[in-house]
Amino acid sequence: MLDLRGFLRKVREDGDLQELEQVDWDLELGTLTELLAEKGGPALLFDKFKGYPEGYRVATNVCGTVRRFATAIGMPPDTGRLDIIKKWRAVDFKPVKPVEVKTGPVMENIHLGNDVNLYEFPVPRYHEHDGGRYIGTGVAVIIRDPDEGYVNVGVQRVMVHDEKILGLYISPGKHNAIIRQKYWARGESCPVVMDFGPAPILFLSAASHVPWGISEFDWAGYLANEPIEVVRGEITGLPVPANSEIVIEGEYLPPEVESRIEGPLGEWTGYYGGGERREPVVRVKALYHRGNPILFGAPPMKPPNYAFAVQVRTTPFLWNDLEKAGVRGIKSVWEHEAGGGRMITIISLKQDHGGHARQAGLAVVGSHGGGYMSKLVIVVDEDIDPTDLNEVLWAVVTRANFDTSVDIIKGCWGSRLDPALPPDKREKGDFTHSVMLIDACKPFYWRDLFPPVNKASEELRTKIIKKWRDKIPLLKA
Ligand SMILES: Cc1cc2nc3c(=O)[nH]c(=O)nc-3n(C[C@H](O)[C@H](O)[C@H](O)COP(=O)(O)O)c2cc1C
Repeated sequence: MLDLRGFLRKVREDGDLQELEQVDWDLELGTLTELLAEKGGPALLFDKFKGYPEGYRVATNVCGTVRRFATAIGMPPDTGRLDIIKKWRAVDFKPVKPVEVKTGPVMENIHLGNDVNLYEFPVPRYHEHDGGRYIGTGVAVIIRDPDEGYVNVGVQRVMVHDEKILGLYISPGKHNAIIRQKYWARGESCPVVMDFGPAPILFLSAASHVPWGISEFDWAGYLANEPIEVVRGEITGLPVPANSEIVIEGEYLPPEVESRIEGPLGEWTGYYGGGERREPVVRVKALYHRGNPILFGAPPMKPPNYAFAVQVRTTPFLWNDLEKAGVRGIKSVWEHEAGGGRMITIISLKQDHGGHARQAGLAVVGSHGGGYMSKLVIVVDEDIDPTDLNEVLWAVVTRANFDTSVDIIKGCWGSRLDPALPPDKREKGDFTHSVMLIDACKPFYWRDLFPPVNKASEELRTKIIKKWRDKIPLLKA
């Protein structure tokens, strides 16, 4: 399995890594990351920060393109996005459990108790209005469910409050939020491990909506076709990824014990919607890191840009959920990058009964894999490519009748990050929102009367291309 530095070596060989020195961790690194992500540029590796030892590095835009996403999950770099989605759906999933080893590279440097200093690393402040330095963006937050015993891993943002205290923001409804609450309800702290330099495949698994009860360790092991090596954490008993770059063990305190102002952070919706507010904190008990550690940075950005190929990550889980819900005839699913890979969902399907499109659209709202922060759901026929917004909008304005084809579903699973959340709802802690569902399929009961599409048939196109392609080079593409 490729650990972070192994992955960066591989993309360097592929000519897809830019190494930069003497960049300021304060805004300069974040702005360069944004500028190059906008251009679909290379992975970035920053070194020689002023005031930090040489070799204390930060990597960003790690899995930022489909090409690097493929590499991260062990597929050839030129794999198409649909093939990645097929693999990521893991329809024949069988858990590949982590193996425990005595020690690993992450234990090269051990700092305990008073010896812990989170400012040891050049932790970036990414965006102009960020309220602090975020050590955890490309992070894996590892927690054990106290009842079921399974280990859940999620990506949740982590801000440095001081040398030993971290702020961790988990959105309500996320598995890690459900689990932490079980400890807090018993008046206990929640033991936690945070991996700030995870193997890209573990990060991507943790960022995905892996179903409840399945550990992202087992999921990543399955995808990589080899188990993840872990060391048992001395303090928490939780698995510490042995080949990570930087890991902490700590306790996530109940909010009534301690909470501090967290945020704002430039978010994936394209705003600073979450603002700043009090959030519970993690008291760090132990810090482990490799020599010359690399911090994994994945700062959120305004859509359609992001530090990884969001749509490839989010789509497979929704697709699985739709099929589990019994929705048949699905040709393709796409969580469009314009909505940050969550807010705009498009399903193309072959209708086989009246109400089929509504069934699919409502199943999105009801699913774990696609429901969170879904705001616009569009269902199109099987001849429409859901990844192409021009085609999708053409279907919307030509096949839907807005008095009958649109539904608004209220009270859906949302987030305080939603910039459109009215202030009074935010105040009350009501983060729900409405979803617009557009049935942009040909009306089922008179589909046979629907006029044909004004485009040459595939047979006619093939015939004409064959005849003319030698004279018209453009036809060869
Ligand atoms: C870079 C990045 C940052 C994220 N930040 C957060 C966050 O701060 N809080 C949160 O609840 N989810 C965040 N997410 C989304 C979760 O990681 C994602 O929903 C994941 O499936 C949650 O896992 P869980 O439900 O197993 O806890 C982030 C995702 C990525 C890729």
